Amino acid sequence: MTNGQSDPALPDGSITVRAPAKVNLILRILDRRPDGYHNLWSIMHTVALEDEVIMRVTSSSGGITLTCDHEGLSVDDTNLVWKAASAVLSQAGRPVGLEIELRKRIPMGGGLGGGSSDAAATILGLNKLLTLGWSTTKMGEVGQVLGSDVAFFLYAPSAIVSGRGEQVRAVTIEGERWVVLAKPSFGIETKWAYQELARIKRGVCPLSTDHVDLDHRDRMPWSQLVANAENDFEAPVFARHSLLQEIKRTLLGLGAQVALLSGSGATVFGLFEMESTARRAGAHLAQDRALNVFVVPTCSGPLWTS
Ligand code: C5P
Repeated sequence: MTNGQSDPALPDGSITVRAPAKVNLILRILDRRPDGYHNLWSIMHTVALEDEVIMRVTSSSGGITLTCDHEGLSVDDTNLVWKAASAVLSQAGRPVGLEIELRKRIPMGGGLGGGSSDAAATILGLNKLLTLGWSTTKMGEVGQVLGSDVAFFLYAPSAIVSGRGEQVRAVTIEGERWVVLAKPSFGIETKWAYQELARIKRGVCPLSTDHVDLDHRDRMPWSQLVANAENDFEAPVFARHSLLQEIKRTLLGLGAQVALLSGSGATVFGLFEMESTARRAGAHLAQDRALNVFVVPTCSGPLWTS
């Protein structure tokens, strides 16, 4: 509108969505599919290390403008947030002018799903801002095209994920844990990790009976996850980056119930029952200036909007 009056058809104000990081408590990589992707089986949980996506509709038509406080991230149509916004506007038939501000906190190349979470937050936020009334299933369909982890974040805080990543079933993990995340200065490219895994793997190892049992549950205690935590990417990734194995050992030595690579890395996380032990472990690891260390609780609810 050029006359200074607001367009009554346009939503007023802005929406902020907090986009949390995730960790994989269990990550099994299964067979390679005809489309080149792998079937996987994973239990994922969001943790309170969050980016923020702030969106505002500026006009009834126009393009998407994205800004970001992280220099290393492109803000053009290659950014997942931009792609997510563009997909929503075109599927909804609402080519509005949109300003998006992305505040990055989650390190990139860390296996923490930051880009996917930002994309999910964008879809969720636009669904609300434009009152589209889309179901979680519909939002997941839009999201899964953008990346294998996007759909998960729409079912946060915890879910069992299978297929390529698009089959998501929310589950309840009873109680809260503290998480120490340690990300080295280098990142790991997911595609490389899959290639390395394929190089060392001899056939597909099926899910264990304990994992099959978890697959049938709607609720589960942390003790059962702690007993069954594993990540298939550890062998190939630790073989190339022994520092990550050392971080894992250190976390276990400092009292972590479990320490594991997250996704394809490069972040290693430790799970703690007590905040105080987690903070002590975090402070110890942070003495190494080359590590980016965060101490956060697991999230207790879905992505948070305001
Ligand atoms: O979908 P996303 O961008 O996360 O995937 C990055 C790369 O990881 C893909 O190009 C593919 O090589 C590999 N990948 C896979 N199987 C999956 C997810 C990812 O092989 N389920």
